[in-house]
Amino acid sequence: MTERLLVKNAKLRDGSVTDILVEDGKFAKIQPGIQIEQADTIDAKEHLVSPPFCDAHLHLDAVLSVGKPRYNQSGTLLEGIQIWGELKENLDKETIKKNAIEVIRWEAVNGSTFLRTHADATDASGNAVEALLEVKEAVKDFADLQIVAFPQDCIFTRKGNDRMLEEAVEKGCDVVGGLPYIELSPEDGLRDVKYVFDLAEKYDRLIDIHCDENTDDQSRYVEAIARETIVRDMQGRVSASHTTAMHNYNNDFAQKLIGNLKRADLNIITNPFPNSCLQNRTDGYPRHRGHTRVDELAAVGVNVAAGSDDIMDPWYPMGKGSPLTVVNLLMNYAQMSGYDQISYLFDMITHNGAKALGLKDYGIKPGNPADFIILDADSEFDAIRLCSEVIYTVRRGKIIAKVKPAERTFCGSGENRQVDFKV
Ligand code: FE2
Repeated sequence: MTERLLVKNAKLRDGSVTDILVEDGKFAKIQPGIQIEQADTIDAKEHLVSPPFCDAHLHLDAVLSVGKPRYNQSGTLLEGIQIWGELKENLDKETIKKNAIEVIRWEAVNGSTFLRTHADATDASGNAVEALLEVKEAVKDFADLQIVAFPQDCIFTRKGNDRMLEEAVEKGCDVVGGLPYIELSPEDGLRDVKYVFDLAEKYDRLIDIHCDENTDDQSRYVEAIARETIVRDMQGRVSASHTTAMHNYNNDFAQKLIGNLKRADLNIITNPFPNSCLQNRTDGYPRHRGHTRVDELAAVGVNVAAGSDDIMDPWYPMGKGSPLTVVNLLMNYAQMSGYDQISYLFDMITHNGAKALGLKDYGIKPGNPADFIILDADSEFDAIRLCSEVIYTVRRGKIIAKVKPAERTFCGSGENRQVDFKV
C-alpha cells in the first residue's frame, strides 16, 4: 500500500505557498490545493519549508570531549591538537560512537540530515575511522554521513602515516583529506596536497583538505589545491576547508587566487564558530578576523558552504550542531547583512553544502527523496535572525524529529501577551 504524507500550506523560499504530497518516501506532487484522502497530514501554516540542512564539516570523533583530559587554556589550534593527541590514547570506539550518534541526533533536531565528518586516520589504533564507519551504518535511517579520511598528525611527519591514510580510504572512507599547512616544511605541504590527489584518483574519491587554517599570509596551499584540481580535471570534486589565511593575503594575490578557485570549481567550507575563536590568537591588538573571504568568493560564484566543525571538543568548547546558529554568527562576523547576502547564508547550509558533498537528488522536486524541514519562521531571513527551531525534520517521507517552540508570555503592565519575536 502506498504510504502518503501531505504537507498543506508550505511556504517555499521564493515566497509561494503550496501543498506537498509525498508518496513512498519521494516527492510526488508540489502544487496548491492537493486534496487526498488517506494521507497523514501536516499543516505547515505558511511556515518555511526547506530541504534539510547540510553540516558540511564536523569532527564527530572528538565531539563532547571538552575538558578531557584538560581544557584548552590558550584557545589555540595547536593546543587543541596537543590535547587531542593526549585524549585519543585512551579513547575507545564505543565512546566515539556514543558521542557521535548523540550529536547526529542533535543535528537531526536542528534540521541537518546531510553531514560530512572528518575521522582521524593517523591514530594508530584505527578507532576513529572504524567507529565512524560503524556510526555511518547505524544512523543511515536518519542521516547521510560522509567520512573524510583525515590525517590529523599530517601525512609526512611520521613514517607510515601515508599508508594509514590509504588504509582508511580502503576501509571505506568517502573522501580523502589532507593537512598541508601543518606539515614540517613547505615542500612536505605540497607533497601532502599531491598525495591526497593521488589517493583520490586511485580510489575515485572526493577530496576535502584542511587548508591554511591559520593567519599566516604566506600559507597558500589553497593555490596548490586549485592547481591540482585544474590540471587533473577534477573540477567540482574538491573542497578546501577553513582557508582562514586568505583573510590576510594581499589583495593582488587574493584577486588572482579567487579567479583560479572559480576556474577549479573548488568548494570552500568555512567554519565560523571555531575560526572566530581559534584564529588570530597571536595578533594582540588590533586583532584581525580569522575568517576566509566569504563575500568576495560568493560574489564571483565560488561555492561556499559552512559547517559546525567542532562541538564541545579540544578546539571549541561550545556548539549544539545547529547550522542556523553557524550562519547567524557568520552574518555578523563576515558583515554579510545585505539582503541578498542573507539569502546566500541560507544557501550555504542548504544547496551549497549539497554541492560540496556531491549530493544527487537534493531539493524539493518531484521524484527526489522526500527530505525536508519545516521551520518556525516564514522566511529565510527570519530563520537566520531568530535561529529558529525546526518544527519537523522529515527524511524519506518519515518524521524523524519534531520540536515544540517555546511559549513566551509577557505579563507586565497587566498584559497577557504571547511574544514570538516575529513582526
Ligand atoms: Fe576541521
